[in-house]
Amino acid sequence: MKNCKLTFAALIISLLVIAIMTYKFIISGETVLASDGRQALLLEPAERDLVLGEMRLFLQTVQQITQGVTDNNLDQVVSAAKQVGAAAQQVVPGSLIKKLPLDFKKLGFDTHSKFDQLALDAEQFGDTQVVLEQLSGLMTNCVACHEIYRIDAAPMSEK
Ligand code: HEC
Repeated sequence: MKNCKLTFAALIISLLVIAIMTYKFIISGETVLASDGRQALLLEPAERDLVLGEMRLFLQTVQQITQGVTDNNLDQVVSAAKQVGAAAQQVVPGSLIKKLPLDFKKLGFDTHSKFDQLALDAEQFGDTQVVLEQLSGLMTNCVACHEIYRIDAAPMSEK
């Protein structure tokens, strides 16, 4: 009977640990409330460089897509969108993933897959009006994420 109780206690503790780890690594991320009311991700310089590098690629892609629409050049639209599709996504180190809240990861992932969808539809339908509609739609993700999050430097003491 005593053994049974011990096993039960061990099970509960293990489940608690798993729950806490899941919360910490997958759901909550590491953010603090910033001076402008947004959630600040606290990143090391290399992590910030990685995220911002990806952002500048997003911006470049948006420019290339609109240029492709203006020139009625669907090949350019497709290749631009593909460069930020899910397959082209950079490998994100676990230490960074753990700092990113679930909503941030979802919005990021959704943005990559919407670029994939845009590329696919541009290839299939060749309709620049559809491209613009999809671009406008996916850019609500850019706006939404920037409204909620920003990046601040991780405190020195954490190193
Ligand atoms: C999952 C969240 C998220 C999504 C989606 C997102 N961004 Fe960002 N982006 C950020 C954060 C956080 C920053 C840092 C902002 C800050 O610190 O004020 C940023 C910064 C940027 C920057 C500044 C880069 C630099 O070098 O300073 C650009 C440009 C940018 N984003 C473009 C885009 C575009 C275009 C899209 C959509 C196609 C997009 N982002 C989608 C989170 C996101």
